[in-house]
Amino acid sequence: MVPPNLLIITPSILACNLAHLQEEVDSVASADWLQVDVMDGHFVPNLSFGAPVIARLKTRLPLDIHLMVSNPRERLKEFFAVGAKHITFHAEAVVSPAERKDVIDHIRKGGATVGIALNPGTPISAITDVIGDVDLVLVMSVHPGFSGQKFMPEVLGKVTALRKAHPELMIQMDGGIDSITAKECKKAGANNLVAASFIFGAQDRKSAIDALRTS
Ligand code: DX5
Repeated sequence: MVPPNLLIITPSILACNLAHLQEEVDSVASADWLQVDVMDGHFVPNLSFGAPVIARLKTRLPLDIHLMVSNPRERLKEFFAVGAKHITFHAEAVVSPAERKDVIDHIRKGGATVGIALNPGTPISAITDVIGDVDLVLVMSVHPGFSGQKFMPEVLGKVTALRKAHPELMIQMDGGIDSITAKECKKAGANNLVAASFIFGAQDRKSAIDALRTS
């Protein structure tokens, strides 16, 4: 069980009202990080937003960039320029160990911490080569691309195994997280919970964030 003081709550702006983006971001100021889901219409069947939108945002929350793109290496620079603190790329997008090391090195040189993400069907054995080089593993609990999907409990076994092998690792989960599924995630050993629709679909964002913390 991860101590509660290590729990990071990360709203994802994917489900916010983009016509009022700054107000939406202001409404989640009690969270710990802010996630920006970047999609390319190729790695995932959807498009979202990129650095020009983020450049206009004002927030004190550290920006956590989840790159759901086929060529993360090519997209890093634009996110360094807008002050990204954490950048996560997908294991399925960069398969060769040498290319993965290159992406990881570039993220670090750009001043951000490094995460690697696993789709629901990808086993943790797929990241054996880099597990010692990353700060965070993102275990997706939905197929990436859209908010509002149902949590997949079958991925919890990966979190349990990761936590057992890596007591100090930041384990982030993302997809279908609400006050009920958050409890399962924490029990398995996750210490960073991303939520889009649960937080931005709530009238009272602070209460939604508190519910994720205390569930
Ligand atoms: C999924 C994204 C998630 C998504 C989660 O493609 O990576 O961040 O926005 O949305 P909810 O919390 O609504 O499942």
